[in-house]
Amino acid sequence: MVTNSSVERGPTRPEPRSLARRALVLGTALLLAGAGVTALSGTARAASTLGAAAAEKGRYFGTAVAANHLGESQYASTLNAEFNSVTPENEMKWDAVESSRGSFSFGSADQIVNHAQSRGMQVRGHTLVWHSQLPGWVGGLGASELRSAMNNHINQVMQHYKGKIAAWDVVNEAFQDGGSGARRSSPFQDKLGDGFIEEAFRTARAADPAAKLCYNDYNTDGINAKSNAVYNMVRDFKARGVPIDCVGFQSHFNSASPVPGDYRANLQRFADLGVDVQITELDIEGSGSSQAASYGNVVNACLAVSRCTGITVWGVTDKYSWRASGTPLLFDGNYSKKPAYDAVLTALGGSGGGGGGGGSAGCSVSYSKAEEWSDRFNGRVTVTAGNAPISTWTVSVTVTPPQKISATWNGSPTWDSSGNVMTMRPNGNGSLAAGASTSFGFTVMKNGNSSAPVLGSCTAS
Ligand code: G3I
Repeated sequence: MVTNSSVERGPTRPEPRSLARRALVLGTALLLAGAGVTALSGTARAASTLGAAAAEKGRYFGTAVAANHLGESQYASTLNAEFNSVTPENEMKWDAVESSRGSFSFGSADQIVNHAQSRGMQVRGHTLVWHSQLPGWVGGLGASELRSAMNNHINQVMQHYKGKIAAWDVVNEAFQDGGSGARRSSPFQDKLGDGFIEEAFRTARAADPAAKLCYNDYNTDGINAKSNAVYNMVRDFKARGVPIDCVGFQSHFNSASPVPGDYRANLQRFADLGVDVQITELDIEGSGSSQAASYGNVVNACLAVSRCTGITVWGVTDKYSWRASGTPLLFDGNYSKKPAYDAVLTALGGSGGGGGGGGSAGCSVSYSKAEEWSDRFNGRVTVTAGNAPISTWTVSVTVTPPQKISATWNGSPTWDSSGNVMTMRPNGNGSLAAGASTSFGFTVMKNGNSSAPVLGSCTAS
């Protein structure tokens, strides 16, 4: 039985009669889908880890790793189970590998690379030329000595890892914050001028021609003066044949610096220059459903850009995050999956249940957009029972403000206090046979934002 319920969620509402007619038509289609006429997600078993789900989307899902935690069994088992790419968090930085001139030590970085390689994970190299974590001797050199030290550093480090690194952050954070679009002061900038970035990339290409070469920065995630400056540099490099393959968007977010509304558009404009884009240091301070929704938005943005080749979160567990008090990662300090984990896995098309949202493995969910108008779109969520029958189910749907859900059908919604998180339950009996599906629908008023809603994991009993 299809039930339509129009619920008032915001100032603009669709006209009830036309909405009811649309809902009835759509609801009938959903019923047919639920009866198995249209197969949606009933047969293939969804990937149950971040890495596997990302791989099914042709992408990697990685994490920053610290060598000194690899001996902790839960750290290693979480890393090994969930991720298929690693970035050494500090171990490849200049102060770690060449603390005194010409004397290279790769012990800790080798540990991470060996761990990854023996388990089929790829490695991002981070980072060759950066103003921070730079030993004092570098800043003391004159221009010509500095040029030769920079090129020697790139050559030695890249040749040591030749063939083992998928992508290198060749130059990191070379632009200033704020509206100037200027280069940041550093020994390289101050003594070698703007050309140091180009020189670093040319040296890097020669040192390991197989590695992708990236420029990496923060506060460049949306369209702003800093990202415009990086964009202009990349466009110039592409026009002049300076070797650059990818741009990394660090994506450190919190309430003062949330996921920008034009995140996807910004990734896309860089991709349109002919480079891959990667989300390289993702972490989002917060908790619960709002953190989960932000994570979901980031994953959806990457999936919407075909040249967005992968996502790396900046650490495995909140307890070892560089900003642990903000609990910005996908696993809490006890390695339990957080709602943010569920949102990422679901956005990647995977399904594991059992996450921090209290989910179980009894059902999975998928989202698709139905009709769209200039001011609104209809979303459809399909709930599929797992290997065993279920008697009821629950799914959360989170929209991004100022979006509002203005109507729902074929389910019974409840709302959190923000009005952004809708928890949907079946109308009446939610029984589904093993492998069977049902769907519910809703209308999202865009209010200027067209991003897809974020699904929580499906819980069933
Ligand atoms: O290893 C020493 C230890 O021996 C000493 O006892 C301790 C106390 O001073 O410091 C330890 O080193 C710290 C290191 O992390 C390892 O934990 C450094 O002080 C600390 O400065 C360093 O912080 C790192 C930071 O980069 C440095 O700028 C963070 O772990 C790392 O997550 C962070 O990563 C950066 C990216 O490389 C670039 N983008 C921004 C991102 C976040 O800041």
